[in-house]
Amino acid sequence: MNGMPSTSSVRPYHWLAVYYDLFCAGLIPWMAGAREHMLGGLTERIESACDLACGTGTLAVEFAQKGIKTYAVDLSPDFCRLARAKARKAGVKVRVVRADMRSFELPEQVDLVTCQFDALNHVPSKAGLVQVADSVARALRPGGCFWFDVNTRLAFKETWVHTWWREWPGVVLAMRNGNDSAHDRAWSDVEWFIREGRLWRRYHERVEEVCWSGAEIRRALRTAGFDRIRAWDVGQFLKHDPFVRPGHRTFYLARQTNRSVSRG
Ligand SMILES: C[S@@+](CC[C@H](N)C(=O)[O-])C[C@H]1O[C@@H](n2cnc3c(N)ncnc32)[C@H](O)[C@@H]1O
Repeated sequence: MNGMPSTSSVRPYHWLAVYYDLFCAGLIPWMAGAREHMLGGLTERIESACDLACGTGTLAVEFAQKGIKTYAVDLSPDFCRLARAKARKAGVKVRVVRADMRSFELPEQVDLVTCQFDALNHVPSKAGLVQVADSVARALRPGGCFWFDVNTRLAFKETWVHTWWREWPGVVLAMRNGNDSAHDRAWSDVEWFIREGRLWRRYHERVEEVCWSGAEIRRALRTAGFDRIRAWDVGQFLKHDPFVRPGHRTFYLARQTNRSVSRG
């Protein structure tokens, strides 16, 4: 790739959106198994759901295909566009709302809010967790559930230190990862190399995450009005995944109590 033009475009989540399904393909099976284990019975009973930080809409489409009235929220216009297209292609109705997960509002309360693949870690600061928990509590009907997974401090320490290289025909991705454990922050400087005819064009995107301890997450959920908080480590759902190890991800399922949630 010598002599490659170094065109740089820092536009968060544009290329990640375009190639997200390719990037995640290997993760989908164990995530589906984990979700079935924790939510299987619940999704058979609910009438409405919202997938928060929905990405390309894979889970939202799955809910809609089960006959669940489905909303999908994402901040990125590119991801929203792809989610709408995926729902259209699948022939199902998903109401895609472009909004920030810290302040989103739905036209009606739903039975279940999901936020998978560590999307919650993408809020720009640790304080965002309380805002998300509060917004989710308001979006849920009393007794509704919030299910999500987060990258842990151990994941930041052990995996957000390497450079990862992945490639597919016409697309190469180098992720230079780093972390600041004192401030629970991690980042990935993502270099995309996209083949355009005989040339490869280079783009840069930066993805940043924050993380919380289990105690911080439970406190934020309780403050927002959740009880019956259950947690699972990812380890029990993995076979041999090169990118995720036991202790690196925690799933939570929390129930919104009947207590009314204050509007901040
Ligand atoms: C790792 S992707 C997860 C996608 C999706 N949950 C899935 O199942 O594949 C992170 C997503 O979070 C979205 N996102 C990041 N910050 C956000 C925010 N403040 N509010 C809403 N969505 C956000 C991104 O646009 C992206 O779609």
